[in-house]
Formats: sequence, C-alpha cells, structure tokens
Amino acid sequence: MDYKKLHFDTLQIHAGLDKSDPTCSRGIGIHPTAAYRFPTCDYAAGLFELSQPGNIYTRLQNPTTSAYEERIAALYGGSGALAVSSGMSAILIAVTALASQGDNIVASPYLYGGTYNQFRHTLQRLGIEVRIADTPSPESFAALIDGRTRAIFVESMGNPTCAVPDLDGIGRLAAKHHVPFIVDNTFGAGGYLCNPFEWGANIIVDSATKWINGHGTAMGGIIVDGGNFDWTGVGAVDAPSEGYHGLNLWKSFGNQAFIVKCRVDGLRDLGACPSPFDSYLMLLGLETLSLRVRHQVQSTRRLAEFLRDCGKAKTVSFVGFENHPSHANAARYFRFGSSAVLNVELKGDIDSTVRFVESLQLAAHMTMIGDSITVVTHPASTTHKQLSEADLVHAGVTPTLLRISLGLEDVEDIIADFGQAFVKAGL
Ligand SMILES: Cc1ncc(COP(=O)(O)O)c(C=O)c1O
Repeated sequence: MDYKKLHFDTLQIHAGLDKSDPTCSRGIGIHPTAAYRFPTCDYAAGLFELSQPGNIYTRLQNPTTSAYEERIAALYGGSGALAVSSGMSAILIAVTALASQGDNIVASPYLYGGTYNQFRHTLQRLGIEVRIADTPSPESFAALIDGRTRAIFVESMGNPTCAVPDLDGIGRLAAKHHVPFIVDNTFGAGGYLCNPFEWGANIIVDSATKWINGHGTAMGGIIVDGGNFDWTGVGAVDAPSEGYHGLNLWKSFGNQAFIVKCRVDGLRDLGACPSPFDSYLMLLGLETLSLRVRHQVQSTRRLAEFLRDCGKAKTVSFVGFENHPSHANAARYFRFGSSAVLNVELKGDIDSTVRFVESLQLAAHMTMIGDSITVVTHPASTTHKQLSEADLVHAGVTPTLLRISLGLEDVEDIIADFGQAFVKAGL
C-alpha cells in the first residue's frame, strides 16, 4: 500500500494491517509470546548478525508491535518507528543512542517535569550534560552548541505551559550545525495536530500514553526516525558497532539506521519494550485519534472562553487566544492553531485551588492528558513537585495554576461541573 497517497484519517485505520493474513481477521492479532522458534541455525545466525529480518525475542520485536510501529511511521511519514514502554523510555533511548559520557545536548526551557528530571539527574549521572536554553528562541540554542553537542531537544508544545518554539528556526539551526533535531511531539497528538518532520525535525519522540492510546489504558512511548538526517561522520551511527561484529548501521540500513540503532542497542540493552497487549490497545486507540482530537480541540476552545468570561480566573492561557505568547507559532505549526490542553490560574490561593480540584465531580484529578476523561492537574503539587522554586518559575508553574486536558464528554457538562466546584471552593 502506498501510504503517501492516503490521508491521516485513513492511515490511522489501515496502515499496518496485513491484508495477506490467512486468518482474514479484521483486527490485528495479539501475539503473547516472549520468543520465536528458529527453523534453522543459519536463519538464527542471520537474525543475530542483522542480515536477516525477523523475530528473535519480544524485547526486540513482536508482530503486534510491528503493526503498531508501521502505523505510527505511516502517520508521521517517517522511515521507521520503534515502540517502547513509556514516553520517558523513548526519550532515554533516543538521547543515549546519540550522546555518551562527555557529550552534551541542548534543550528547550519548556519541558515536561519528568523529562527535566531525567535530563538534570539521570543523564548528568551518565556524564551527559544537558544545556537548557534561556529562552526557546533559535539564538538561545545557538549560544550553547559546541563540538560535543549531539542533539537539540524541544517539545513541540511544552508541558504544561503550551509554549510552542520556533520549530522551523530551530530545525534550520540544527541543520546548519549538522546536529540531529529531536522533538517530543506528545502534544502534537501522534502527528495529527503537528508533524515536526515538516519543520526540520529528524527524530520524534511521543508519549503514546496520551492521545495515541486516548483512553488512559496503557503506558507507551514511540520513537520515529524521519529518515532525513545524513549520519555520515556521526560516530554514534556511522561507525563499526562493537556488538555486531563491526557492522556499520548507516552503511547497512541507510535512512533507517537511527531507528535500527534504537532497537538493536537501546531496546536490547535498556529493555524497555512494550507488551503486545499494550501495542494492541495503541492500535485500537489510533483508529479514532483524529476524531477524538477534533472534538477535544473544539471543547478546549469552548472551555477557555467560559473560563475567560466567568470572573473566577486570573489568567487563561490557551494558544488559540491571540494574547498567548505562542499564538503565532501555534497557528503556524499546529492544525487549527490549537491544542487540546489549556492552563488557567484561578483567583484565590493554593488552598482554594485545592478545594476547587477536590470538588470536581466529572473532571478527574490526575496527572494525565489526552484521555477520554477530562483531566484537571495541579502541577505545583504533582508533576512539578520535585522542581526547586527557581526551576518552577523557569517552567512557568504558579501555585494556582491548573492544567486542563479536555476529554470526550459534552463540554457543557464539564462547564457545569466547574461551576459547582467554584461555588464549593468559595471562588
Ligand atoms: C511532553 C511529555 N513527554 C514525555 C512524557 C512522558 O511520557 P510517559 O508518561 O508515557 O512516560 C510526558 C508525560 O506526561 C509528556 O507530557
């Protein structure tokens, strides 16, 4: 099937289906197996030296997961994808595929709290320096790049601030310095709202736990290779692989070299593979991705307008509003110029904010986004709790800030729920 000719709504259902499956099943089978039989020793030897494609062990690949990976690669227009067990492991595998002790990566200041911790603590312990830019402008990134910079890392829309960096400008900067540009596109909803490959990204990571799964039923992460980076001379990819008898991945796998490396080194050594059942849930979630996101984006605007006009909010931060600092970038890089998440700073203090959250009856208080249930999160006491006060300010998190991720309910019921919670909170 020529995926390039099909639209997103079609690909999310058809890509990865095996029409030659002798069972003629409409659904994709779940393969609950850890290992695979080798018909001959020669065949097995070919698998192990990477000259023969096929299944060895589910830590490396699984037929259900392969179908899911094919669908994701088609949706993003990438050369290949790798499914892993969480968004955090996608980031860890992608970054450590490129950077080693003594190297550095340059990252956006607007990052998910978990990513910030991984960068500041775990990568640092591994000897990888993470240089956080002062602002998300290309100039701030440029000032930090040197000869040991192995990647530039941004979120297409920062969690929770919804800051959208100048993807095009940063992509050009990365290309100028011949440094791979990694974009965490979790808020880009599996490529439906934003596809960073159109703006110079070379590698995409995405927490599939969110919009891809869409129902809060499984953890997952994906890495997608844009197949658009020239790895010539980049030691991590264009060099003899010690684990594979000196095989050069760039020369052997061309535009899939990076994703092959993530699989054969990253998954092999770090072991963060998805379960086949979870891959099935992701495939099921993907079938309705664009429909869900269209509903959520509409509801987000409606709730944002309600919050702006209801008198209970100090600020309403929604990229669809002209006063949002990232409005222009969102309009350029995100479909509908919008997101399915908004932030509100309530009037009152941290205590009334907590009372409000605890009074909600429909919206759930969780650390989650992209779910079919509307979620309200209080970052200062949850996702960003580990950050110092200075880092909190840097990340734009204040005591009464709430992050809201719209679900699939009728938004008028969510508005009524907010109304009764405002009364109970004394706001
Ligand atoms: C932007 C972003 N990246 C990465 C992650 C981590 O993903 P996971 O929770 O699937 O490990 C999250 C989680 O919320 C996120 O919002």
